[in-house]
Amino acid sequence: MNRRDFGLSLAAGLSLPALAHAKSGHVLRASAAKMQIAPSQYPETDVWCYNKAVPGEMIRLKQGGEFATTFENQLEEPSSVHWHGVRLENSMDGVPGLTQKVVPSKGSFDYRFKTPDAGTYWYHAHNRSWEQVARGLYGPLIVEEHNPPDIDHDITIVIDDWRMSQDAQIEGDFGAMHDLSHGGRIGNYLSAQLLPKISELRKNERVRLRFINTATDRIVKVGFHGLNGALVALDGMPLRVVEQTDHTTLAPAQRADFILDVVSDVGESASIISHERDGGYILADIPVRDAKPSARGVINALPPNPIAFVKGKAELSVPLVMEGGAMGGLRSGTYNGEQLNARELIKNGMIWTLNGIAGMPKTPLLTAKKGAIVEIPLVNNTAFGHAMHMHGNHFQERFADGTMGPHRDTLLVDRGETKTIVFAAENTGKWLFHCHMLSHQAAGMKTYLEVA
Ligand code: C2O
Ligand code: CU
Repeated sequence: MNRRDFGLSLAAGLSLPALAHAKSGHVLRASAAKMQIAPSQYPETDVWCYNKAVPGEMIRLKQGGEFATTFENQLEEPSSVHWHGVRLENSMDGVPGLTQKVVPSKGSFDYRFKTPDAGTYWYHAHNRSWEQVARGLYGPLIVEEHNPPDIDHDITIVIDDWRMSQDAQIEGDFGAMHDLSHGGRIGNYLSAQLLPKISELRKNERVRLRFINTATDRIVKVGFHGLNGALVALDGMPLRVVEQTDHTTLAPAQRADFILDVVSDVGESASIISHERDGGYILADIPVRDAKPSARGVINALPPNPIAFVKGKAELSVPLVMEGGAMGGLRSGTYNGEQLNARELIKNGMIWTLNGIAGMPKTPLLTAKKGAIVEIPLVNNTAFGHAMHMHGNHFQERFADGTMGPHRDTLLVDRGETKTIVFAAENTGKWLFHCHMLSHQAAGMKTYLEVA
């Protein structure tokens, strides 16, 4: 190759990316792709994904910073992006019909938001989410503390539940009535991706594990072998006092951060386990190669986020009563302003009601003045658990003895149970409030509240 040719090809090679990036900064592109999801002896899976990967591109931001991205929809159907757990401006929340217009196929939308809180968050599609998320449209969103804890490895573990055929393709049976009316669309393959991948650990090392349950409907219970430490954050928000434990339950959309020391001996391994009814299932097994001379000391709480803990009495209390589902739960309900019986509701794909309404109501569940303290007793009159998620605001559970739980954005309310949540309505706008068992959401379990 002579010198002139080399110069030409170099120029051509440089000009393409420069053009592609000329208009904007970060781009989040949703498209169809193939990915190795199942173990390597299986073929690749056809997925829908962000920036050519499942999970989608890991977005790592700094606390107190700002993030801007252009969402480009290369799917064959409309979509939008929701930044789950981020206390952002309402217009950036990504809920079609409530906070923005749906982004059509080949369309785009500019998202821009600040990141007041450090912690483990995620982003996902919010249009026909029960199918779009199940096909792979989600990714981790990590906001780093100003002063991060002293650790050796920071690993995000993205858990998903897939319903796959024998050739590792996603089953297309979305919206099957039996799934909608029971515990949702439960899969036959549980995946756990470690980001970054880690091939070995040393005894006495300290790791931070950030779990994200991206499954549309499955509740997972994660635990450890050879790792010892504490739960330090839930749904992104630091616990005031760390909790010494070796397991936690994650409903769909929930996150949990652990800080753990490697206690396995050299030559053994440290493992992350999913506790199932009939035993344990190993999600990851990491060999312990050698040892650091000594372990670190106590595990401290993470620095607090700038969110207030609720004090004082609620000014507004509005119960949310869940009804419907299989096993005698569905009687009647309002749908699109019309009072329907069970058979008519089912004909419209509606199986669940919130305060007697199936699907999006015409008016909000409640309207709160900015700054008001709001209480919502979540009354589960169904035969199934529900993972209730509030957009835009974290809440706390108030226990029967008056004490308050940690900040959360998603709370599992078991069958027959009532849990009362309380929050300070600081973030103005129209905020979706729904079951994050996305099959349940599809079949009626959604409402919204307004802070004005
Ligand atoms: Cu994780 Cu309404 O969303
Ligand atoms: Cu539910």
